[in-house]
Amino acid sequence: ACTLNGRARQLEGHPMTRLLDAIRQTGLTGTKEGCGEGECGACGVLLDGVLVNSCLTPLAHAQGAAITTIEGLASSEILHEVQEAFLEYGGAQCGICTPGMVLAAHELLSRIPEPTEDDVRAALAGNLCRCTGYMRIFEAVLEASRRQ
Ligand code: FES
Ligand code: FES
Repeated sequence: ACTLNGRARQLEGHPMTRLLDAIRQTGLTGTKEGCGEGECGACGVLLDGVLVNSCLTPLAHAQGAAITTIEGLASSEILHEVQEAFLEYGGAQCGICTPGMVLAAHELLSRIPEPTEDDVRAALAGNLCRCTGYMRIFEAVLEASRRQ
C-alpha cells in the first residue's frame, strides 16, 4: 500500500508494472506519457517529495511511499500561482509536458522560493517541451515565484 495524493491506496499491478500505468489506471490521468524512456519528464510525480519519472519507476519502488501527482497539488497555493503564470505567459500549449513542468516548478519553489533563472533552467532541465521554446515556461515560473 502507499499514499496517493494524501489518501491510503493499494495500487494494483505486478511489482515491475510502471508506476505511470498504475497511477493512470486509478483514473488519475493528469500524469502524461511522453517518451516512455525517462527522457522527457512528462510523467513526473513526487515520490516522498522527490521528483521521479514514473515511466521508469517500478510499482515495487512506490510501496509504502507518499506519491503526489499533478491532481494532488490542486489545492496548494504554489500550484495556483504557477498555473496562473503559465496561462498568462503562454507556458502551456499542447499540454503534454505541462503536468511534469508544473510539478518540477512546484518542487523547485518549495525548495528555493526565490530562484534565479539559472535555478529554473536547472530544475526544469529534465523536462522537454516541443511547443513553447522554454522561455515562456521559465518566465512563468519566475513570475510565480515573485507572486508567492
Ligand atoms: Fe517518462 Fe518521458 S514519459 S520521462
Ligand atoms: Fe506541448 Fe510543452 S506545451 S510539449
